[in-house]
Amino acid sequence: MLVRTLENALVTDTHITFIGGGHMAGSLIGGLLRTGFDAKHIRVADPDAKQLEHLRQRFQVKTCADNLEAVGSAQVVVFAVKPQVFRDAARPLSTALGENQPLIISIAAGVPEKHIHRWLGYPAAIVRAMPNTPALIGAGAAALYANPKVSNAQRVLAEAMFKAVGLALWIDDESLMNAVTAVSGSGPAYFFLVMEIMEAVARELGLPADAASKLVQQTALGAARMALECRGNVAILRKQVTSPGGTTAAALKILDSDKLRGIFLQALTAARDRGVQLSDDFGKETS
Ligand SMILES: NC(=O)c1ccc[n+]([C@@H]2O[C@H](COP(=O)([O-])OP(=O)(O)OC[C@H]3O[C@@H](n4cnc5c(N)ncnc54)[C@H](OP(=O)(O)O)[C@@H]3O)[C@@H](O)[C@H]2O)c1
Repeated sequence: MLVRTLENALVTDTHITFIGGGHMAGSLIGGLLRTGFDAKHIRVADPDAKQLEHLRQRFQVKTCADNLEAVGSAQVVVFAVKPQVFRDAARPLSTALGENQPLIISIAAGVPEKHIHRWLGYPAAIVRAMPNTPALIGAGAAALYANPKVSNAQRVLAEAMFKAVGLALWIDDESLMNAVTAVSGSGPAYFFLVMEIMEAVARELGLPADAASKLVQQTALGAARMALECRGNVAILRKQVTSPGGTTAAALKILDSDKLRGIFLQALTAARDRGVQLSDDFGKETS
């Protein structure tokens, strides 16, 4: 109850500045407005005047070409720029942010908190978030990591911001962000690949293209919704569809869960390790 009251107060009163007004910023802003954040309290800075005009028209938020002017007295500053421009965007803001000490939220993939801390040059309260593209339609999955400077109220606020576009959950160990990237950051692509393959095979089995894609899409949606409703016990759901000697059993015999598990283990480990490597390389390039 106390958390709910605090969340409501934070939602209506908080001034938020986005540095970078691209895809992820747009999806987050859309979600924030849907859940009651005030457009008058949201400001976006981006070098692209057309992009700013688009955001102004779409959301009625304030926009600004100058990052320094945009951070003003914001209580939250979200860095929604590409990782490779993060340092150059952050450094000139160091003094202003150090004076005002807002909550810093970074959605930049693979940029460790220690680098952000170093570029800002003061002991900032930093939340790192790893959202994914379904955030664009309010069905995202984001993992959040807070450094020790982040207060409880700031945690509530950061969580409310990402819950506005889907699931938001906390992880305590920053090094797990690379595993999060491998699972949910890159995850939509794995499901898209399976859907692409199923659609192509459905066509080979004689279904018209339109029917193939609609049946696959609705099946994916239905399966995901059932998994959510049964609180994730998907093994039980799979067994319920699989009658001994039936059609599903014939397919699953070919799919062979041990082999498939091996492939996913390799794939997700490769994604996780690539994330670690990119973070390390990034650290060398931007010291
Ligand atoms: N998209 C995803 O699925 C996803 C998922 C998880 C995390 N992320 C992370 O989210 C961040 C943003 O991704 P995105 O897909 O939204 O990228 P995006 O669409 O390219 O948006 C980034 C925006 O920042 C602007 N920008 C560049 N330099 C700037 C500066 N110095 N100050 C202010 N704005 C600046 C860019 O303008 P110009 O185009 O003119 O350079 C662009 O409009 C990335 O770090 C990415 O790793 C994305």
